[in-house]
Amino acid sequence: MTNESSQDKILVVKDLHKTYRDGEVRSEVLKGIDFSVAHGEFVAIQGSSGAGKSTLLNLLGALDKPDSGKIVIDGLELTSEVRPDQIDIFRRDKIGFIFQNHYLMQEFTVIENTMLPLRVQGVDKKIARERAAQILTRIGLAHRLEHYPSQISGGESQRVAVARAVVKNPPLILADEPTGNLDSDNRARFIEVLNTLQAEDRLTVIVVTHENELAMAASRRLLMKDGKIDIPV
Ligand SMILES: Nc1ncnc2c1ncn2[C@@H]1O[C@H](COP(=O)(O)OP(=O)(O)OP(=O)(O)O)[C@@H](O)[C@H]1O
Ligand SMILES: [Mg+2]
Repeated sequence: MTNESSQDKILVVKDLHKTYRDGEVRSEVLKGIDFSVAHGEFVAIQGSSGAGKSTLLNLLGALDKPDSGKIVIDGLELTSEVRPDQIDIFRRDKIGFIFQNHYLMQEFTVIENTMLPLRVQGVDKKIARERAAQILTRIGLAHRLEHYPSQISGGESQRVAVARAVVKNPPLILADEPTGNLDSDNRARFIEVLNTLQAEDRLTVIVVTHENELAMAASRRLLMKDGKIDIPV
C-alpha cells in the first residue's frame, strides 16, 4: 500500500478505467475514477442510467476487472496478479453484497439463507444459527426465521438480503440499487434497517442508487458523470 492509502481507509480507488469491447464497438465507461472511503462511512453513489455505477461496483467487488488503475480494499490491492482462489476468499471475507434482487435461495429458509455466508467461512452450524437469528431479530424478522423466501414479502426478502450481507461483519458492504424493487413503505423500512445496522455496527457501506431518499440516508454522496466521480452532491 502507498502512503495515501492510510489505515483508516477501507477503500482507495485510483485512476480506474474500464472500457467494454464488443467486436468493433467500444464503450469507455470509467475514465479515471478517484475516491476513497473511510472505515464506518456510508457513501451513496448517484448518477444517471448508464453512468457506470454498476460497472464500478462490480470492480470494487472483484466481480470484474478494470483495464487500469488501482483498487485497495482493507489493505489488499486487487491486481491482476491476485490469484482466482485469493479473489474468492477476498469476496467471501471482505465484501457483503446487496443487489436489486435479493437472490435468496428458494430451497432454504430465511435463517438458513442468512447463515450461509458464515457456513461458507467454516463457522460452526450452531454459532452460525445463533448469529443469524440475532441479526434477523434486530431487523424485525424474528417471526420469519423458518419461513421460505416464497412465504415472505418482497420487502422482507430484501431485509433478509441485508442480514445475509452483514452477518459475517465484512469490512465493506456494496449495495446496487437495493431499494429499486420496493414500494415506498418497504423502501423506508429498508433504509431504517440499513441505517441502524450501519450506525450501531460501524459498517462501511457503499450504495449505488437512483433514489434520493436512500441517498439522503448516506453520510456522503458522490455523483458519477462522464466516467468520473464528480463533485459531492
Ligand atoms: N457487459 C457489458 N458489455 C458491454 N457494455 C456494457 C456491459 N455492462 C455495461 N455496459 C455498458 O456500460 C455502460 C454503463 O453501464 P452500468 O450498468 O455500469 O450503468 P449504471 O450506471 O449502473 O446504470 P443503471 O442506473 O441503469 O443501472 C452502459 O452504457 C452499458 O450499456
Ligand atoms: Mg446499474
